[in-house]
Amino acid sequence: MLVMGVESSCDETAVSILRDGKDVLANTVLSQIDIHKAYGGVVPEIASREHVKGVTMVFDTALKEGGVSFEDIDLIAVTEGPGLIGSLLIGINAAKIVSLNYDIPLVGVHHIAGHIYANNIEHDLEFPLLALIVSGGHTELVLMREHYRFEKIGETQDDAVGEAYDKIARVLGLSYPGGPEVDKRSREGEELYEFPRPMIDTDDYDFSFSGLKSHVINLHHNMLQRGETINVNAFCRSFQEAVTDVLVEKTKKAIDAYSVKGLIVAGGVAANSGLRKKMKANVTDIPVYFPSLRFCTDNAAMIAAAGYFKHQTLKHTDHYDLNGHSRLDLAKEGL
Ligand code: KG4
Ligand code: ZN
Repeated sequence: MLVMGVESSCDETAVSILRDGKDVLANTVLSQIDIHKAYGGVVPEIASREHVKGVTMVFDTALKEGGVSFEDIDLIAVTEGPGLIGSLLIGINAAKIVSLNYDIPLVGVHHIAGHIYANNIEHDLEFPLLALIVSGGHTELVLMREHYRFEKIGETQDDAVGEAYDKIARVLGLSYPGGPEVDKRSREGEELYEFPRPMIDTDDYDFSFSGLKSHVINLHHNMLQRGETINVNAFCRSFQEAVTDVLVEKTKKAIDAYSVKGLIVAGGVAANSGLRKKMKANVTDIPVYFPSLRFCTDNAAMIAAAGYFKHQTLKHTDHYDLNGHSRLDLAKEGL
């Protein structure tokens, strides 16, 4: 079965083609990062306009890369949310037109289900499974007892991890997106500052990063006012150690409580070298999976993979009234 995935929820226009939810024939991603860099973050209206500009070309490139034509496609899966509404609508509309024109069944996919299923491309998910989702918009612990059923057991009370990374990077004068830059600097720095580990000991699976973020920004501000030299690498390393300590500790607690068979880490921050290292060093009794870097940040292979399993498991297809949603509940995705 050939599934075409379409993703446009933020600043990447992406189309992929997968055979049977796994075998990646094409994975085309047109990134707008260089355009948004000048503004220090994604500007929604510019993002929508760039999607409009690039979307047709991305479909075309993916078909050429995969060596197939629209007539060969059996299912088209598209991100329906959550994300920037103007951006989502462009991918959804493009997918609908292809679906209508070539009579291909259509399925709308939750972006986070996509991030989770990115892991299934390279290894089979084994249930029960715990997924730590860490991206620019989400920080969640999700329990899966079977394919395409998601139970959220914890989430951030305020900022998402990637969001905190990006804000701190901006204060430190690093370029957008800040996550990869802070990660790189942190590998070159020492943990000179003892930053708080918010909610590390609480009796739940929730997170909070806004207090830590403010702590880092305030220290930076106070040091500047006192005319002290800022060791950017040490700031990055100290922040990264604090964040990854909390993520690893809470994840370990959930692994023990739910006796899961495996852990997957998903979303853009799954690309973080410190998190990869610390999680693997601390979770040794069950397999720990991180997607390859190209499947960590937004792509459409993950949407095709999730769409395939949504269609196979739930026998679900969508109609032409499929719409975009800036907010969307993951738990409802598997119902
Ligand atoms: O999953 P993603 O591409 O988009 C969302 O769905 O949000 O994640 C983007 C986020 C950004 O906040 C970016 O700074 C962060 O992932 N990120 C990283 C790294 N690579 C990307 N954060 C920390 N370390 C990295 N190496
Ligand atoms: Zn994402």
